[in-house]
Amino acid sequence: MPFRLRLSCLFICVTLWTTFGAESHRSPNIVLILTDDLDVANGGLTPLSKTKKLIGEAGITFTNALVASPLCCPSRASILTGKYPHNHHVINNTLEGNCSSKAWQKSQEGRTFPALLKAQAGYQTFFAGKYLNQYGHSEAGGVEHVPPGWSYWVGLEKNSKYYNYTLSVNGKAQKHGADYGSDYLTDLLANVSLDFLQQKSNFQPFFMLVSPPAPHSPWTAAPQYQDRFNTTKAPRDPSFNLHGKDKHWLIRQAKTPMTNSSIQFLDEAFRKRWRTLLSVDDLVERIVKRLEVRAELDNTFIFFTSDNGYHTGQFSLPLDKRQLYEFDIKVPLMVRGPNIKPNQTSQMLVANVDLGPTILDIAGFDLNQTQMDGSSFLPIMEGRMNSSGWRTDFLVEYEGEGSEVSDPACPLLGPGVSECFPDCVCEDSYNNTYACVRTIAPSADLQYCEFDDNEVFVEVYNLTADPFQLTNIAKTIEQEVLEKMNHRLMMLQSCSAHSCRTPGAYDTRFKFDPRQMFSSWTLGT
Ligand SMILES: *[C@@H]1O[C@H](CO)[C@@H](O)[C@H](O)[C@H]1NC(C)=O
Ligand SMILES: *[C@@H]1O[C@H](CO)[C@@H](O)[C@H](O)[C@H]1NC(C)=O
Ligand SMILES: *[C@@H]1O[C@H](CO)[C@@H](O)[C@H](O)[C@H]1NC(C)=O
Ligand SMILES: *[C@@H]1O[C@H](CO)[C@@H](O)[C@H](O)[C@H]1NC(C)=O
Ligand SMILES: *[C@@H]1O[C@H](CO)[C@@H](O)[C@H](O)[C@H]1NC(C)=O
Ligand SMILES: *[C@@H]1O[C@H](CO)[C@@H](O)[C@H](O)[C@H]1NC(C)=O
Ligand SMILES: *[C@@H]1O[C@H](CO)[C@@H](O)[C@H](O)[C@H]1NC(C)=O
Ligand SMILES: *[C@@H]1O[C@H](CO)[C@@H](O)[C@H](O)[C@H]1NC(C)=O
Ligand SMILES: *[C@@H]1O[C@H](CO)[C@@H](O)[C@H](O)[C@H]1NC(C)=O
Ligand SMILES: *[C@@H]1O[C@H](CO)[C@@H](O)[C@H](O)[C@H]1NC(C)=O
Ligand SMILES: *[C@@H]1O[C@H](CO)[C@@H](O)[C@H](O)[C@H]1NC(C)=O
Repeated sequence: MPFRLRLSCLFICVTLWTTFGAESHRSPNIVLILTDDLDVANGGLTPLSKTKKLIGEAGITFTNALVASPLCCPSRASILTGKYPHNHHVINNTLEGNCSSKAWQKSQEGRTFPALLKAQAGYQTFFAGKYLNQYGHSEAGGVEHVPPGWSYWVGLEKNSKYYNYTLSVNGKAQKHGADYGSDYLTDLLANVSLDFLQQKSNFQPFFMLVSPPAPHSPWTAAPQYQDRFNTTKAPRDPSFNLHGKDKHWLIRQAKTPMTNSSIQFLDEAFRKRWRTLLSVDDLVERIVKRLEVRAELDNTFIFFTSDNGYHTGQFSLPLDKRQLYEFDIKVPLMVRGPNIKPNQTSQMLVANVDLGPTILDIAGFDLNQTQMDGSSFLPIMEGRMNSSGWRTDFLVEYEGEGSEVSDPACPLLGPGVSECFPDCVCEDSYNNTYACVRTIAPSADLQYCEFDDNEVFVEVYNLTADPFQLTNIAKTIEQEVLEKMNHRLMMLQSCSAHSCRTPGAYDTRFKFDPRQMFSSWTLGT
């Protein structure tokens, strides 16, 4: 039992609350539900019908929500800090890459938005689920380490699991087995979240971050959902099983057509992913309903999103994330809350680095006191800002993961690659290291990427003409466009806080002047 009911306070609290609390102005409550590896491009939201109804239809759905890095740990660090990877320094999923490392704990963890909410905005804060992939590692303080910023902490040790896992309950290890009724992690997270709602103080607003590992591997469904979607297959979109012949080295190594066993494997993974989401849908419903019963729903913002997208067969890569394409960098994002009109859809470019600033803005925190790279999109949700006042481009940074030794199962591939599974198709390599500018402006829908590899490879896509990114136009596009994008990329790669929010190359508010590219941006006439 992670929480103990404070009975002594119950009667007095309720009395005082009904006397003063309801009358006075109260900061809204905030819930963030963060899924793991949930795509939006390949139908990831399809199984989540209750979530779409209870959050999306009751509020706003963003169709262009991006992540600063399409990998769990760097993306989660961007969510917590509101920063691009080059500013939070979490570059991959290992301790050496700063995933939950001592250096992260010392330099960043005390300044995350939940830490600010708790220490400076008067919020009680609750965490349940997967945190950063190396959380609980013995070299990083073990499960005794409770990150600053959390009043109540139920953190999963290490990476995603559904059974047989260890939790840190406020710093104490709690081991779980494989019994559905007492251990299925998605359900347990829903249960402890409801416990928190029941037992929290009614004198302070709350922030909850609920982070179920679904639909990440090992894709273990609840027993009642094991037979669902049993004839579903991964979508055969235009890039499915297509050879990415004009793309960077790693993509060119994929086998096309994929082997039948790879296709069977990815279709099965696709079904299993969807099945795990049915329990997430239940979790969302239970939290929303409980808030409703407690009469707190109208004063609560609820965000639903993911840490990165996912692919199943695109460009003949069987399955994973880590690539620069829409299927990996785009995530679902739906938000409901006070002053957000129902049934809205927004095409504006919002991102994971904006979640912290937006939530702090809701809490009334002065964002000028932070060093965050993102912006608050609260004005968009409340209909106070349109596209002419908002960003038009965004930086995506990725540091490829590799291995120093060749995988014994795929010895011919040699060192430098990783995630070579199934059938020895590699999903990553050290030189799958890139940075991109993704532009979504009224006059341009473009992506420009540069690789840190032996070829200094460049990929450019015009998504207006080519939404599936089938044709790399780096060699045919006008030189002026390349130069514009290259300079903007360099600027963003070294940006920090305010300079990350300067207008992009296609921003209509500003006139592009190549001579002034490195110094300043001039206001157009
Ligand atoms: C890890 O973070 C520390 C502190 O921010 C930084 O000095 C170091 O360079 C980072 N390591 C990597 C591999 O980026
Ligand atoms: C959990 O651990 C037990 C005991 O080691 C093992 O028999 C079982 O297969 C595991 N179940 C899962 C789903 O990992
Ligand atoms: C969650 O709570 C429900 C209802 O109280 C209970 O039936 C179920 O066994 C619990 N599940 C877990 C994993 O704790
Ligand atoms: C799919 O599930 C349905 C009902 O649960 C069952 O009747 C059917 O035989 C299953 N099909 C396959 C291919 O497993
Ligand atoms: C692979 O699947 C295709 C289409 O289902 C089939 O035509 C082909 O014979 C299969 N190949 C092998 C080696 O099983
Ligand atoms: C949102 O739109 C759907 C479909 O048009 C409609 O069924 C639903 O009632 C609307 N919901 C709200 C809260 O307005
Ligand atoms: C934050 O800084 C901006 C730019 O310097 C300024 O316009 C704004 O008024 C400041 N906001 C607050 C709340 O001080
Ligand atoms: C956007 O908002 C600004 C300022 O409120 C307004 O002047 C402008 O007309 C709006 N533009 C559009 C396209 O709605
Ligand atoms: C993660 O980054 C660190 C620091 O650059 C590096 O030493 C390590 O090899 C990387 N890990 C993987 C799996 O690529
Ligand atoms: C990428 O790395 C692999 C593995 O080390 C190497 O074989 C390949 O030549 C490299 N390609 C480029 C373009 O750097
Ligand atoms: C992108 O494609 C659209 C539609 O074909 C075209 O109008 C536009 O000029 C292209 N943009 C660039 C930068 O090439």
